[in-house]
Amino acid sequence: MKVGVIMGGNSSERAVSLESGREIMQHLDQNKYEIMPIELGEGADWIGQVEGLDLAFLALHGKYGEDGTIQGTLETLGIPYTGSGVTSSSLCMDKHLSKKLIASEGVATPAWVLARTGEEIPFELAERLGYPLVVKPNTGGSSVGVTLASDRRQLIYAVEEAWRWDSEVLIEQYIEGEELTCGLLDGKLLPTISIRHQADFFNYDSKYVTGMAEETVAVLPAALEQAVQAAALTCYQILKCRVYARVDLMVKDGIPYVMEVNTLPGLTANSLLPKSASAAGISYPELLDAIIEISLN
Ligand code: DAL
Ligand code: MG
Repeated sequence: MKVGVIMGGNSSERAVSLESGREIMQHLDQNKYEIMPIELGEGADWIGQVEGLDLAFLALHGKYGEDGTIQGTLETLGIPYTGSGVTSSSLCMDKHLSKKLIASEGVATPAWVLARTGEEIPFELAERLGYPLVVKPNTGGSSVGVTLASDRRQLIYAVEEAWRWDSEVLIEQYIEGEELTCGLLDGKLLPTISIRHQADFFNYDSKYVTGMAEETVAVLPAALEQAVQAAALTCYQILKCRVYARVDLMVKDGIPYVMEVNTLPGLTANSLLPKSASAAGISYPELLDAIIEISLN
């Protein structure tokens, strides 16, 4: 079977994607698959490279990779690909829209307001949520462009920083609590992972520099574990995810708040989904095999 590992791209998560791609290339079973690396970047003729593939393994993250655009192109070309489809990918990449849907299902998500370029920053609405506030690009990933703001001066700086990445910016309530993540494979929950780090929030370095965060299987009271899993599963379903995904949450006062759903969660050596799978007894190569198998069905 000819499998192309598509990685790189032009999003703010290009470097993370290259790491995911490298890890995937290293662990795919060479006896089972004919493996072809396909690095997207400026001017790359990737359409020519994907023709003839039996499957495109998407190691892309962020815009033009995780947002439904490449999925739509591959659909048009008739090439099967890993992970969620067009609608799910584009919805999950848009935090504003996905949070609206999540909230409409009765799942808690941190309160937020949107700041658009060319419009006034909605200070009053934002400040009603109370400082500190988390400011993030609406369609970003890996915490690129995310800043914590403790007063109006910092809020202006944070919004301007996030506008560098996206014309729509989320100003979100900061939930101080326990950080958790739920991996899902084929619609089924993998063990919940608890994240501990020293930073104000789970930033880029905490995510990708080895030793900057401690990630272990979460030990939660049964009722909370159930609430967390129910929230994650509801999001996976309402947002029409398929094959695999990762739902990120914060828990405060016993309430799980869903922050976002990642349709192409990182598969780097430091990423969370492989840790979650490993806790379920699924090795990294087995996880890749499962993703391929489920994607082709
Ligand atoms: N956005 C990164 C890749 C993740 O969610 O793992
Ligand atoms: Mg993300």
